[in-house]
Amino acid sequence: MNDLFILGTGGHARDVADIARALDFRPILVARDEDERSTCRKTYDVVLEAEALSWKGAQFAIGIGDNRTRAAVAKRMAGQHSFPVLIHPDTSIGLSSRKAVLDSSGTVLFPGVRVMGHCSFGAFCTLNLNTTVSHDCHIGDFANLSPGANLAGNVHIGEGVWIGMGVTVNQGSATEPRRIGAWSTIGSGAAVIRDVPPGVTQVGVPAEEKV
Ligand SMILES: CC(C)(COP(=O)(O)OP(=O)(O)OC[C@H]1O[C@@H](n2cnc3c(N)ncnc32)[C@H](O)[C@@H]1OP(=O)(O)O)[C@@H](O)C(=O)NCCC(=O)NCCS
Repeated sequence: MNDLFILGTGGHARDVADIARALDFRPILVARDEDERSTCRKTYDVVLEAEALSWKGAQFAIGIGDNRTRAAVAKRMAGQHSFPVLIHPDTSIGLSSRKAVLDSSGTVLFPGVRVMGHCSFGAFCTLNLNTTVSHDCHIGDFANLSPGANLAGNVHIGEGVWIGMGVTVNQGSATEPRRIGAWSTIGSGAAVIRDVPPGVTQVGVPAEEKV
């Protein structure tokens, strides 16, 4: 059983640890300091970051839900450590998308994820419980699909986009994909029927900018 250090000790980190455990890793949570280590839930062993970083050949996952924080941690550790892709056994991935998922450093697929064909993935994406991704979609670096989100075909999710729970995104086309711009947020329950510009928050059905 290989050790896998999960950076973070909160609920998302424990979820990632459960997925790692289902994949026969031995998850070890990583706290930034003694205060975090002494106050966090002890579902799994917890060590300090300095100890984890000194471990020869250590493999890591980032157990941090917030996209900007996950991106900052990934950039801080870039090129120095290995971040295996974690795919819970209860997922299905179209054959033509499988290599793209496996090549995506640090991405985590939660139970119930369904991905169809010809999709591509950036690094450190989170596809949470029961999300569905139809054909020809792209999920950008550090993007997050919250539980129950559904993407139709030809949807391009930009870097750092946060898709809330239960969001649906209508299809684009092969020549004009439906695009959600980088670092935008789509509130839970929204239906996206038009392209979304970068850096905005949209909510509702149909999704519109929150004032
Ligand atoms: C959209 C969102 C990011 C806004 O958060 P926020 O900036 O803190 O916004 P507030 O809660 O202050 O709400 C601001 C306004 O937006 C409305 N609003 C917030 N979320 C909404 C949603 N999902 N759908 C419709 N309206 C929403 C509020 O009713 C409020 O309206 P008002 O000004 O008329 O009273 C947040 O509500 C959301 O949906 N987050 C996603 C949660 C999620 O999926 N988590 C996954 C965990 S794994």
